[in-house]
Amino acid sequence: MYTQSFSVPDGDPAAAKSRVQPISASEAALQASFDQRIDADGRIEPQDWMPEAYRKTLVRQISQHAHSEIVGMLPEGNWISRAPSLKRKAILIAKVQDEGGHGLYLYSAAETLGVSRDQMLDALHTGKAKYSSIFNYPTLTWADVGVIGWLVDGAAIMNQIPLCRCSYGPYARAMVRVCKEESFHQRQGYEALLVMMQQGTVDQQAMVQDAVNRWWWKCLAMFGPPDADSPNSAQGMRWGIKRISNDDLRQKFVDATVPQAKVLGVTLPDPDLKWNESRGHYDYGAIDWDEFWATVNGNGPCNKERLSTRVKAWNEGAWVREAALAHQHKQQQRQHKEAA
Ligand code: 3HC
Repeated sequence: MYTQSFSVPDGDPAAAKSRVQPISASEAALQASFDQRIDADGRIEPQDWMPEAYRKTLVRQISQHAHSEIVGMLPEGNWISRAPSLKRKAILIAKVQDEGGHGLYLYSAAETLGVSRDQMLDALHTGKAKYSSIFNYPTLTWADVGVIGWLVDGAAIMNQIPLCRCSYGPYARAMVRVCKEESFHQRQGYEALLVMMQQGTVDQQAMVQDAVNRWWWKCLAMFGPPDADSPNSAQGMRWGIKRISNDDLRQKFVDATVPQAKVLGVTLPDPDLKWNESRGHYDYGAIDWDEFWATVNGNGPCNKERLSTRVKAWNEGAWVREAALAHQHKQQQRQHKEAA
């Protein structure tokens, strides 16, 4: 359903790349070589010189992304013990485990920029760091698990495929595997819903529609504020970190999802949703940005619960981290002894 091909044009890169004012001749040369590489659509690697603002932007985005992956394990993890069959339970366990893995690749990618995992986790646990708004909503029924796969992972992959071409090498490479796994997540969600819609009872079909009604608008908001209100977009695009704008990705998601909803037999809860022949896209209604910002700022329905669950898991896992360090220490001592 979602292509791995990267065929969307990036605009005019030569005109768009940033030029930070250099402070010395040697720094000017470094800046020029950085700009040249960005202009040529090349990759920046951890050992390369980079402007401090570029580094900070990446740390911000990659760490927020990593936090989203691990907080994203919670709403679905909630359903592992209540999955309706062994098959669905096995799939869900694998999926939730994948999300944990995505978090780990992304924390590793961010660490190459000189920030430690402890610093990033501390920012998450103290509420200073953002993570995706979407994970602050409750999963009320089993249909929510299918809808998260279909719509939430579908939206995530739409946003993440262009990140495989991000200018920062470690992030781009991590995203290739993440996107392959997200494709599976999206498909398993869609298939679970298809079974409920085509073979389920009237009550099960109603449960799917109810879940779609509750998640649709949150998924549209997930792409971030409108381009005109997105403070980081212009610079992120100039640096080749972001490749497609928030609004363009949102539109691509709507256009891809409407036909899928038709096959599924559900109604997307938007009376303004209709094909616009002249634009060649679906028009859609107004997103509630006040609700989005309230959630991003910590006041969504599950923000407090999500954070306290994360902090509890971190605290309760302290003995595992201590045991792993003690084991490593022991191994090192043994190796030293053998070498002596
Ligand atoms: N939830 C929470 N905060 C959000 C947000 C969302 N859905 N969308 C935007 N924001 C925040 C931004 O982080 C930024 O805050 P900051 O300046 O304090 O860091 C602010 O709102 C303004 O937004 P911008 O559009 O200017 O910010 P960006 O240029 O960084 O774009 C983004 C936002 C599109 C989310 C971009 O950072 C991005 O593509 N990030 C990588 C992908 C990602 O993090 N996805 C999260 C979901 S992952 C997931 O869903 C897991 C999967 O398993 C389901």
